[in-house]
Amino acid sequence: MRKFLTRSLAVSAVALVALSATACGNSDREASSNPSGGAAKGFAKDALIGVALPSKTSENWVLAGDLFTNGLKEAGFKSDVQYAGASTTVADQQSQISSMVTKGAKVIVIGATDAAQLGTQVKQAKDAGAVVIAYDRLITGTADLDYYVAFDNFKVGQLQGQALLDGMKAKKPTGPWTIELFSGSPDDNNAGVFFNGAMDVLKPLITKGDLIVGSGQTDVKQTATQGWKAENAQSRMDAIMTSTYAKGDKTLDGVLSPNDTLARAIITSVKAAGKPIPIVTGQDSEVESVKWIMSGEQYSTINKDTRKLVAQTIEMVKKLQAGEQPEINDTNSYDNGVKKVPSYLLPPVIVTKANAAEAYANDPKLAPLTK
Ligand code: BGC
Repeated sequence: MRKFLTRSLAVSAVALVALSATACGNSDREASSNPSGGAAKGFAKDALIGVALPSKTSENWVLAGDLFTNGLKEAGFKSDVQYAGASTTVADQQSQISSMVTKGAKVIVIGATDAAQLGTQVKQAKDAGAVVIAYDRLITGTADLDYYVAFDNFKVGQLQGQALLDGMKAKKPTGPWTIELFSGSPDDNNAGVFFNGAMDVLKPLITKGDLIVGSGQTDVKQTATQGWKAENAQSRMDAIMTSTYAKGDKTLDGVLSPNDTLARAIITSVKAAGKPIPIVTGQDSEVESVKWIMSGEQYSTINKDTRKLVAQTIEMVKKLQAGEQPEINDTNSYDNGVKKVPSYLLPPVIVTKANAAEAYANDPKLAPLTK
């Protein structure tokens, strides 16, 4: 069995130690019945289910809210779906979760705005007899979290790292290649996991000298994008373009971007600097980015179909309602620093122009963009 914490810390020596104290990954799937908890007593068919989502930093979160509202209603439950606001995200989410507990929610689904700041609320939920499911983002430092449902985030990072290499090689078959690295918001546990997954692929080549990080910025404080905000990525890229690429003695071949919103900000910055667009990765299959992939401006994205993730979560809620154990498929990969959280992980899919039509064939919003 792969000890994930160990492996991830080794990778993070390059950069993201602080981001990923609670690292995780994609290994050792085990079909299993509930190993560690989740009250299995059942509850009323029309019980209240709370859903606390982070602020709307990407399209997937907007979609998730609608899908939870509609899906829980269809399944016969009452729901309370809340988003953290744009600025006081942590305090917002803490009070929203407390209020869900007070209102008697039987399951609380949480897309954490700050992985490490919800222990008190998760305990409060647990003490009140509610089951807590971390949705998409792990909640760290608490033994009271029952389940985790997500796309495999470490795999997302690996796919991004590989896409960056593939894209650069297709354009310029021999290295060395000059790259820049971006990571997500340090308060989101996923940010470190994505980065560690990508570095699992890229680090050996950086060590060998096949990849050169032009700015030399590989430290967590330098690569992180606070709040997952486009303007933060754009201003960092602006600064790098000026400091490293303005003279024209270095050509930027690729940029590791953790998601689509940041990818478009990075591309916008490079264009504004009057330089050729490098290979830029992404994630989320946002409408605008799928258009940019088809027009050749962004190289790749990741398809993490939010419809599937919400449906899987609602399946878990239904099982809990019936007093049964929800299905999980991984008991080893996602350690939140206190325990390995029983998880259901879905497989992410890499998308480039070459497979976009196939990847989005069943998505009525995206399929027409690939024609
Ligand atoms: C999600 C990504 C998203 C990012 C910013 C992450 O936790 O997994 O899909 O791009 O948050 O919203």
